[in-house]
Amino acid sequence: MASISKNPSLFIVILSTLMSITFSASVIEDLKNLKPPQDFNATITSNCLQNPTLRYCTSYPMDLDEIFKFTIVGSHLCNESKNPNCVESFPKIDLRSRPIIAPLYLSFSFFWKYCPLSILSIDLSNSSLKGSFPTDLLQCTQIQALDLSLNELSGEFPIESFSPLNNLTVLNMSYNHFLESEVSESEFFKRFNSSSFLHSGLLPDHKEFRIKLVFLLVGFPIFVILVVGCLGWVCLQRPDFLPRILRTKHKFTPSMLKAATNGFSEKNLVGKSEAVDIYRGTLRDGTEVGIEIYWNNISKENRRKFVEESKVLVQLCHKNIVQILGWCDKRRFRAIVTQWTEGQNVQTWLLGSNPPWKHRLRLMMGVVEGMCYLHEKWPDVGYDLRTSSILLPNNLEPLISRFKIEDHISSTKTFTSLAAIFDLLIYISEIYKLGVFLLEIITNRRPHEEFEGGEAGFIDYVRMHYPGNLQKVMDENMKLTQNGFDQAKQVARLGIIYTDQTSNRQPSLTQIFDVLSKAYKSFTVLASPNHKRLHGDRGKGNKQIQSNPSIYKKLDTHESYC
Ligand SMILES: *[C@@H]1O[C@H](CO)[C@@H](O)[C@H](O)[C@H]1NC(C)=O
Ligand SMILES: *[C@@H]1O[C@H](CO)[C@@H](O)[C@H](O)[C@H]1NC(C)=O
Ligand SMILES: *[C@@H]1O[C@H](CO)[C@@H](O)[C@H](O)[C@H]1NC(C)=O
Ligand SMILES: *[C@@H]1O[C@H](CO)[C@@H](O)[C@H](O)[C@H]1NC(C)=O
Ligand SMILES: *[C@@H]1O[C@H](CO)[C@@H](O)[C@H](O)[C@H]1NC(C)=O
Ligand SMILES: *[C@@H]1O[C@H](CO)[C@@H](O)[C@H](O)[C@H]1NC(C)=O
Repeated sequence: MASISKNPSLFIVILSTLMSITFSASVIEDLKNLKPPQDFNATITSNCLQNPTLRYCTSYPMDLDEIFKFTIVGSHLCNESKNPNCVESFPKIDLRSRPIIAPLYLSFSFFWKYCPLSILSIDLSNSSLKGSFPTDLLQCTQIQALDLSLNELSGEFPIESFSPLNNLTVLNMSYNHFLESEVSESEFFKRFNSSSFLHSGLLPDHKEFRIKLVFLLVGFPIFVILVVGCLGWVCLQRPDFLPRILRTKHKFTPSMLKAATNGFSEKNLVGKSEAVDIYRGTLRDGTEVGIEIYWNNISKENRRKFVEESKVLVQLCHKNIVQILGWCDKRRFRAIVTQWTEGQNVQTWLLGSNPPWKHRLRLMMGVVEGMCYLHEKWPDVGYDLRTSSILLPNNLEPLISRFKIEDHISSTKTFTSLAAIFDLLIYISEIYKLGVFLLEIITNRRPHEEFEGGEAGFIDYVRMHYPGNLQKVMDENMKLTQNGFDQAKQVARLGIIYTDQTSNRQPSLTQIFDVLSKAYKSFTVLASPNHKRLHGDRGKGNKQIQSNPSIYKKLDTHESYC
């Protein structure tokens, strides 16, 4: 201890004392094991007398234990920094590229609190420092150089805490992850140029900003174009990908139908004629549909008409009318999309399964109910009433499936009386077709294939046998009882009346419905309340169809079906 008074740097004096005790143990062990010597109080008191600027001298009350620990850390740190003469001076803390020990020394806050005045430079670069800025360091206010570059420091940069560091001339904060701050505006940091803050996060990164700007200027329009393009494609081509409320109801696109039919695959083609292909398909939502496709090219005017017609057809809603789901209208490609019906048409049904009279009655009733609905609600809508075009799903409830809206539809608004005449003409022609249909059901013959005069020949043939020889023309497979025979005879009579184009009177659908429902009722105890109600109207049957619309309303009992 003799050297104490001689040495100019009193801090160092203590170091030399400690070094002589032990340097083999690590700094942590030393902190744990070493105790201040007896005369430690006297030593530092004397130090402070000689040099009152020493940091520990100004602390009050003096914590001898803490000051002693400070001297231990100081001696280790001096050695770690490879200072050539820790006894004489301690000018630099140099822990460059020492990721293991740099954080350890930073954690000794009591050391930085009494930071030795001899230290003029601190270099902790490339030492894997993490977390927030080590503000304790800045208690060494006398330093001239500070390098914290190449670390992973983050968070706020303590601009204010730098202001006491008047002698700082070299600073390096490069390559860290600080939050951007206003160092470039602070008076203090004016003495440093941007090379002190390269990639530190502190300065606004102009290059990065420019890249972002370019990206924004170029990328955003491209993005918008892509989005608009995609949306446009979806809207125009595949609206079925849109939410339901954004879709145009009932409107189908060729792409949708192509997707529904597996690209119009042969497997899905269920019917074909000159102008129309009939496909079976599955929509994106799983609905099974029938798709009638017309490939021919038509004029703009006709296309407009087609759309008008389709708009009417999708409104049809009855249990005996195939449900039309929508249409597709493109120049070379028009289509009508309907519900898919599993089953067969009436013609094949008659040929294939020899249905009994009761089933035929039910079939005819369904057809007449559908006709009543159309006549009452949609007198403009014509339909194809033929055994080959009436579908018969497995539940035996027949479906009228082919429609044609007469051309006068657009003129109805202006020429009401003319329209009424047209409606009447449609009605008469449908009644005639119903007559043929009834006769076909009873006879199970095909007028166009089996008779030279076609339909007229067929009608003549039945008429010839009516009433006396009717038995001869009736289908044997009906296996009629006497009662059934009488009923069939009544139906035949109406069939003949309906096909009589020379008669001037306007025939009524009510008549045939009465006959059919009465007959059907005699068969079944399963008659639904609907049937009873219909039957109840029988007595009021009116020959003047125009003046008795109520009966059709009552016949039309299945609107809720759709
Ligand atoms: C000083 O550091 C060197 C390595 O740089 C080491 O070998 C030596 O033991 C240390 N001395 C003390 C007293 O800690
Ligand atoms: C250290 O010594 C001074 C006077 O020499 C005395 O006032 C002070 O209480 C002592 N401190 C401790 C912690 O012993
Ligand atoms: C940083 O330190 C690692 C060792 O920790 C060393 O391999 C590397 O070269 C150093 N990088 C620089 C730029 O000094
Ligand atoms: C800066 O250096 C001068 C002289 O070198 C010294 O007097 C002054 O105290 C130093 N400033 C600080 C804050 O240590
Ligand atoms: C930044 O300042 C240093 C001196 O402090 C100088 O060597 C360097 O060229 C300067 N760099 C720029 C980009 O001004
Ligand atoms: C700070 O450190 C980085 C990385 O080592 C170096 O590129 C840069 O020049 C340094 N800046 C100064 C001012 O020393």
